[in-house]
Amino acid sequence: MNDARNDQAAPQRLTIRRPDDWHLHLRDGAMLQAVAGETSRHFARAIIMPNLVPPVVRSRDAAAYRDRILAALPEAVVFEPLMTLYLTEASDPDDLRQGVADGLVRAVKLYPAGATTNSDSGVRDIEKVMPFLEAMAELGLPLCVHGEVTDPDIDIFDREAVFIERVLAPLRQRLPELRIVMEHVTTRNGLDFVRSQAQGMAATLTTHHLIINRNHLLVGGVRPHYYCLPVAKREEHRLALVEAATSGDARFFLGTDSAPHATHTKEAACGCAGIFTAPNTMSCLAHVFEAEAALDKLESFTSLNGPAFYGLPANESRLTLVKQSAPVEYPDQIPVEGDQSVTVFDPGFELFWAVKDAS
Ligand code: DOR
Ligand code: ZN
Repeated sequence: MNDARNDQAAPQRLTIRRPDDWHLHLRDGAMLQAVAGETSRHFARAIIMPNLVPPVVRSRDAAAYRDRILAALPEAVVFEPLMTLYLTEASDPDDLRQGVADGLVRAVKLYPAGATTNSDSGVRDIEKVMPFLEAMAELGLPLCVHGEVTDPDIDIFDREAVFIERVLAPLRQRLPELRIVMEHVTTRNGLDFVRSQAQGMAATLTTHHLIINRNHLLVGGVRPHYYCLPVAKREEHRLALVEAATSGDARFFLGTDSAPHATHTKEAACGCAGIFTAPNTMSCLAHVFEAEAALDKLESFTSLNGPAFYGLPANESRLTLVKQSAPVEYPDQIPVEGDQSVTVFDPGFELFWAVKDAS
């Protein structure tokens, strides 16, 4: 990454509409209590992932989970959790219709069974969920897709590209009215596919995939806190992601995929996938956008493109970032309960853009 610290021409202060996070894991119980304040500090709304144990399948599960999230927020915080349902082969279109009519359900998440954390109840055979997807298309409700095949014969670094060929492209052809968000896109293939679609298709990009490539994960020792799914790819893909995020193209917007796991479950022989970026995401993004001389595109990426795709107004409230001369201080661990903690993403460089005001 370029270090843009001494670029005197760049603005030192930036006020944007308050951002939203279009892909977030808040978990439940003690972990929810520990992390709820982190995202709600800077973000007004977030699409909440439903991969709890057991998953959030029915609308009443989503309503109960929303209540638990609201109860976990720090006092006086204004934050709207946008709830999703976890798609299973037994999901009920009538339950979906009710959840949408109630203004509760904002999207449905498709996990191919076995693709990632708590995805075992996901979809094995897309045929079985076609009636549900048709109901979604009628409702105009976005489908958020974890875009990786689970075929053991497919190399982990190729799973996104193969998913596009085998699943996503045929689904688009078969049901072009279905609005789809390709979540946490990590490859040029994914970006090109989104760009090739005339309408109804977008992608979220995470903070960490704009910063790390697979060398950061593997060179000089395995770094469990850089392990997530989809796994970070080659540098050429990271550069393509940065180009897309900073382009202003309305089809690309922020979904941090901030995914807390207790530190000891990541620093393990079989470590969990997930990177926790909630505390320093805005500082990281300002750094990345400044290095591309694209600070003027940050608001589109974090605050405008997502609401437009989801058919929601952009936030009226604002967030101000200020570039300071001393590095931004942020905790490297967030305490959970007992001696457990969550490790905060280390971008590998100092951050100088501080969030000064989020109101
Ligand atoms: O790295 C990941 N962690 N990728 C996912 O798709 C799920 C997430 C989690 O829930 O921990
Ligand atoms: Zn996720």
